[in-house]
Amino acid sequence: MPDFDPARPLKIAPSIMSADFARLGQEIRAIEDQGCDWVHVDGMDGHFVPNLAIGPNVCAAIRPYIRTVMDVHLMISPVDEYLEPYARAGADIITVHAEATPHLDRSLAVIRDLGCKAGVALNPATSESAIEYVLDKIDLILVMTVNPGFGGQTFLSGQLPKIRRIRAMIGQRPIRLEIDGGVTPGIVPAARAAGVDTVVAGTAVFKGGTPEHYAANMRALREAWDIRD
Ligand code: DX5
Ligand code: ZN
Repeated sequence: MPDFDPARPLKIAPSIMSADFARLGQEIRAIEDQGCDWVHVDGMDGHFVPNLAIGPNVCAAIRPYIRTVMDVHLMISPVDEYLEPYARAGADIITVHAEATPHLDRSLAVIRDLGCKAGVALNPATSESAIEYVLDKIDLILVMTVNPGFGGQTFLSGQLPKIRRIRAMIGQRPIRLEIDGGVTPGIVPAARAAGVDTVVAGTAVFKGGTPEHYAANMRALREAWDIRD
């Protein structure tokens, strides 16, 4: 199961949206061999977001290649009927959008009942107040730092004050704080200072297209993490 020790430093979760889809198994092997912490898998419904992506059958096919953690981010509305299929496909973490389910408290309970860690994602325009009353049912908070749907967009630095407020709300709870969208080494120091401990990175990890590039790309993210002001 995922390591949720909040004391552990940066976790890198490459988004396989930027991988070579014809070689997903090998791509996952490569990023894990080069030291990623989690594997981030995006489920998109063509309705909540204007794109279609990775369904439960593909998750089940890639599960045997994942030795770390399958971090599943669902951009699906309504989402409840898809929780069990993704859990059965081997998700370790299932994150749902606060905007995508009318009964967030119930969706989170279902995820935990299925034996998975429960995450909540917030779109850029959504206030942190959306999670105020469900904090004790959450293992992960994912702040979208682009509008969801596509890799390769630009980081929205206006999300940093929200991230700071969420870090304060978390307090001592064992909740990880993840950002997703437009992550580059350049934004990592500010994200760390705001309280982030987990970064999703698609383009920034997979650019170059070879295991050597993936290693260098993840090294650049970790080096940026260690830059102190
Ligand atoms: C966007 C997805 C992201 C995306 C990140 O909606 O949730 O996981 O793949 O890609 P980059 O890092 O390229 O912005
Ligand atoms: Zn994602």
